[in-house]
Amino acid sequence: MGNINSAITGVNSWVPEYKLTNHELSKMVDTNDEWITSRTGIKERRILKGNGLASSDLGCKAVNGLLSKKKISPSEIDLIICATATPDMLFPSTACIIADKIGAKNAFAFDVMAACSGFLYSLDVASKYIESGLYKKIIVVGADKMSSIVDYEDRKTCVIFGDGAGAVLLEPSENEYCIKDSILKSDGSGRNYLKMVAGGSFKPSSLQTVNSKEHFIYQDGKTVFKFAVSCMADISVEIMKRNNLSPDDVAWLVPHQANKRIIDATANRMGLGTDKVMINIQKYGNTTNATIPICLSEWEEKLKLGDNIILSAFGGGFTWAAIYLSWSY
Ligand code: UT7
Repeated sequence: MGNINSAITGVNSWVPEYKLTNHELSKMVDTNDEWITSRTGIKERRILKGNGLASSDLGCKAVNGLLSKKKISPSEIDLIICATATPDMLFPSTACIIADKIGAKNAFAFDVMAACSGFLYSLDVASKYIESGLYKKIIVVGADKMSSIVDYEDRKTCVIFGDGAGAVLLEPSENEYCIKDSILKSDGSGRNYLKMVAGGSFKPSSLQTVNSKEHFIYQDGKTVFKFAVSCMADISVEIMKRNNLSPDDVAWLVPHQANKRIIDATANRMGLGTDKVMINIQKYGNTTNATIPICLSEWEEKLKLGDNIILSAFGGGFTWAAIYLSWSY
């Protein structure tokens, strides 16, 4: 028997129906469509409306759709990893809640928290479990209800984020169409530039933390932008170089959708034309852990067996990551 490789064998995504447009935002804060479009590339984002609905509900929609597409019963799943920055609660994990809601009775489940790089961190962890031979069917789901931590009075952040979820199925493969390489990095000295301060053990929730809006995202956009551009481009070029991939060898770049300008800079450094870059930020904004699987899902029909794909992300922490894979179907 050859080595066990790990392959993405299915993908699905789900976004809520409600569209929050730039025009609507311009009635809520001092902003306008021209500023948002030129600085970020975003035109609208989806918002999950309804009482009691959380990231797990977004995740369940994506995972249930994936299981029906693949004709797999929930009981066949060995492990569910949920990448989220907006867990339903601090604990139990959102992955446990998703597993229960979908009836994945034989799966163990846990969350990975690496802000916007969480989906790639999770994919890497999942691929190692598959390669070990221990597990045969793993779901990695990125789900974020970003609207639950966005201050809709802060024009610097409220224009950026949206809600959504995407999920992939990982299975063993003995051929070369599989996950080939990964690079994961973090630097906690960047922690103060992108954060949600209160609600954890450092600053437990209190009247004061609510009044001072510390349960919302804080971002020093300019600093994060600077790091995002250099780190995402560097890591994407690094993974190309160490796998001897020329721009011609790469079929697709799947970048985290944080800002169109960051995506363009990354593609440019990699030597890729825009026709090879998955971009849907105009429709969904930054859905944090869901951006990459939503792209894969929307481009699924265009993907061909053996396409060389590079996934790349940067997020709070700081965390950043790149994964190189050869598409398996
Ligand atoms: O996914 C996790 C990683 N996150 C990221 O990668 C995000 C990285 N950062 C960014 O994408 C950009 O920094 C932002 C889109 C957040 C902001 O764009 P920017 O070009 O860096 O703008 P800025 O923050 O430097 O602000 C420029 C000006 C400021 O006005 P003054 O001080 O020059 O008068 C802001 O107050 O634009 C103003 N501004 C706005 N104006 C209209 C900030 N937000 C808005 C807004 N509408 N929504």
